[in-house]
This record gives sequence, structure tokens and C-alpha cells, in this order.
Amino acid sequence: KMPRKFIVGGNWKCNGDRPSINALVQALNTGESAIGSGVEVVVAPPMLYGDYARGLLRPDFGVAFQNCWTGGNGAFTGEVSANMIKDAGFDWVILGHSERRSLPEIMETDATVATKTAYALKAGLKVILCIGETLDARQSGKTDEVNARQLAAVAEKVSDWSNIVIAYEPVWAIGTGVVATPEQAQETHAQIRKWLAENLSPQVAQQMRIMYGGSANAANADSLAKQPDVDGFLVGGASLKPEFLKIAESWK
Ligand code: G3P
Repeated sequence: KMPRKFIVGGNWKCNGDRPSINALVQALNTGESAIGSGVEVVVAPPMLYGDYARGLLRPDFGVAFQNCWTGGNGAFTGEVSANMIKDAGFDWVILGHSERRSLPEIMETDATVATKTAYALKAGLKVILCIGETLDARQSGKTDEVNARQLAAVAEKVSDWSNIVIAYEPVWAIGTGVVATPEQAQETHAQIRKWLAENLSPQVAQQMRIMYGGSANAANADSLAKQPDVDGFLVGGASLKPEFLKIAESWK
């Protein structure tokens, strides 16, 4: 997988409070030596707790936000801009998560995700860009088409992809306990890389880290991590437990 550094993210979603975050961070901090230097680890607390978690968390872990506004500061009540996230000392933002794309209260479009991605990069953030197909799309053979459409929307607004990592999260695997098989993950990751090579450049394709997300856990991470095009994980449920450290070690 050279020259791609393995990357594991913990997406805490809308979970936790101060006591539970204290306990989780304490557990993550005690695993300090075991993980080693071959992996980059990033956790994404709920926005309000970003600063709080950063203050407690081991310094070798990065902190990501789970969303940002489409542009800069201004009269946008209730929003958080990429400029603010950057100014507050954070480096990462997760964009295009399927929950934000599909929850009826949110319904982010491909174009909105692309606008956010372009703006976040401009503001100096690194982006974990989530893509992935629904069960319907997979069953009707449209997996690669959906991923290509979601990527193409971003390519319309972004030319420099060096601060993007892609998280491939098949919707049917998120929070369901139904993990993609190593073969399914490898096949789709390879197709995503092929799309990058054909539509951006072979160099972008070669360097792009593609994380897998969807019911990843300590028991299945090793076999997924062995796949040549799986460069890490974006973990939901299991990132709220000490088990997350085991997943972070799966690069070994
Ligand atoms: O962003 C990570 C995620 O959507 C996967 O969630 O709970 O299936 O690991 P989970």
C-alpha cells in the first residue's frame, strides 16, 4: 500500500456527554504505545465537544468535525463554518456522511456536499469525504455508478484532491452489523481508485487513501485491512468503545 499511510477514524456521531467522553478518552489514552506509528488516527466528537475532547485526548490523535457550513462566516444562524473549525485549531472535517445525505430532516445533495468540500479545503481543512450506495443500488448493480456520481459532483468543484481522504461507506452496512466482505470492499475500493485514475489522474488514484466504513469492528478489521485497496476505516459504533484501539492496530 506504499506510499499510503493507514488512517482510522472514529465517528462518534450524535452520541455522548461529558462523563462518557471522559471515560472513552481515558480508555483511548491508555493504549498509547500499542498502536504504533504506521497509522493516523482521527476521532470526530459531536461538534459541541470538539474542544473538550481535544483538551483531554492524547496529542497523536487528530480531531475531526462531523459537518460544516457551505461557506464562510455570516448570517447563517445555527451553522459552524470551516473557518471557525480551522481557527479553533482543528484540521479535519467529515463531509457527505450518508446520514446527512439521507435523513429527511437534512437531505444534503451531491452538490451541497461538493460545495462544502471545496470550501472546507479552501479554509485549510482536510476532508474525510464519505460516499456509498444504498442496498437498493447494490442489488440493482448500481454501486459503482452511485460512487462515481458522488465523486463527480466533488470533481466539478475541487481540482486539488491532496487533502481529501475518501470513506467508502455502503449504506446497508452502516450500523447494521452487516459488514462488507473483504472481497466486496476490495472490489468497490478498486473501482473507486479506477474512477480516480480515469477522471482525475493516476497519481491522485495512487495516493488517495480509501477508508472502509460500515459495521467495522475488532473482529473483522484485520481481514479487511489486508485488502490492497483498503487504506483504513471510518468506524461508528465500535469507535465508542475501547475496541476502537484494536481497529487502529489493524494496519500491522
Ligand atoms: O461513519 C462511520 C459509520 O457510518 C459506520 O458506522 O456504526 O456501522 O460502524 P458503524
